[in-house]
Amino acid sequence: MIPLVDLKAQYDSIQVEIDAAIQAVIRRSAFIGGEEVQRFEAEFAAYCETRACVGVGNGTEALYLALRALGIGPGDEVITVAHTFIATAEAISLTGAKPVFVDIQEETMLMDPNLLEAAITPRTRAIIPVHLYGQPCEMDRILEIARRYDLKVIEDAAQAHGARWRGRRTGSFGDVACFSFYPGKNLGAYGDGGAVVSQDEDLIRQIRMLADHGRQEKYLHEIQGLNSRLDGLQAAILRVKLRYLDTWNTARRRHATYYLEALRGCGITLPVIHPDAESVWHLFVIRVSERERFQAWLKERGIDTGIHYPVPLHQQPAYRHLKIPTGALPVTERVAKEVVSLPMYAELTEKHLTYISDSIWSWTHSRTVS
Ligand SMILES: Cc1ncc(COP(=O)(O)O)c(C=O)c1O
Repeated sequence: MIPLVDLKAQYDSIQVEIDAAIQAVIRRSAFIGGEEVQRFEAEFAAYCETRACVGVGNGTEALYLALRALGIGPGDEVITVAHTFIATAEAISLTGAKPVFVDIQEETMLMDPNLLEAAITPRTRAIIPVHLYGQPCEMDRILEIARRYDLKVIEDAAQAHGARWRGRRTGSFGDVACFSFYPGKNLGAYGDGGAVVSQDEDLIRQIRMLADHGRQEKYLHEIQGLNSRLDGLQAAILRVKLRYLDTWNTARRRHATYYLEALRGCGITLPVIHPDAESVWHLFVIRVSERERFQAWLKERGIDTGIHYPVPLHQQPAYRHLKIPTGALPVTERVAKEVVSLPMYAELTEKHLTYISDSIWSWTHSRTVS
């Protein structure tokens, strides 16, 4: 069986360091805050080419806290995409603001900057581009429009640790950027975790305060906050893994190149990366028309696949109240019916990749014969 991701294979490769890091935290009882968290924040800010970082409870809260620190709330509108994980929109809704969805580009499946201006109203306060599947969005065009309309930009970089747009890291472009360390991410914790990075140290200070019950002193609460902290064990694990992230991302890139070459001409739509983008291939997503049968074909051959994501956010029951009609986001709606994620993780071997590619070619041949 070839899984979609193999967290056990990754652990096996770094077990000694991970176990030692966990033991050290337990021995020091440094469970909340402490040295590991502080060091991870400094190392991750440097990795993202930003000035400051705060570790938080998860990626959803990273987005929520960033929006709140930017003063976004009831009556405001925030533009994003409907082809993403629901957390992007949930964070907007949680502040009391309204998510406004623009369609995606056919080839990259990312936010289409050409559609942004038409979506801007007097209530619009911010844009959340989502660097989906590990690919950075067209940041210069998005930033230029944001600047012109005086809008904030919050990067949802939950799937794009280490990706680059025109040579710069995702996370370093917006007013603020949010990461998830959900276990299956390119940089994943052993539980929930998240971070917010920014060039603006005051903003990070504000988020740190919001995420710790609105306080800077133990029992003096300046604003109404919540509890959303990265814990010491997760920080220690993430510090070990951060040292390997570039190596793992390079391996993912090599696997993606293998898939792209091996599957060329096999009749399925392969991912297209913008020439200015360096993807970290969180997911390798193809498009096929007979999706269920295709997935079953691979399953029978022991290959796991996924769908990211099958139901666009405007068609989710949770967002029915927005009353966005079917057909409003044609590319998003079409893509959602066709996307399939193939196995993608650093530890995949050439044998795995050959077997998966051959199995896809055998599917193609079965379609042309029947
Ligand atoms: C694009 C995107 N945004 C936000 C999140 C939310 O992150 P978390 O699961 O850590 O809350 C995720 C991941 O799950 C995601 O993929």
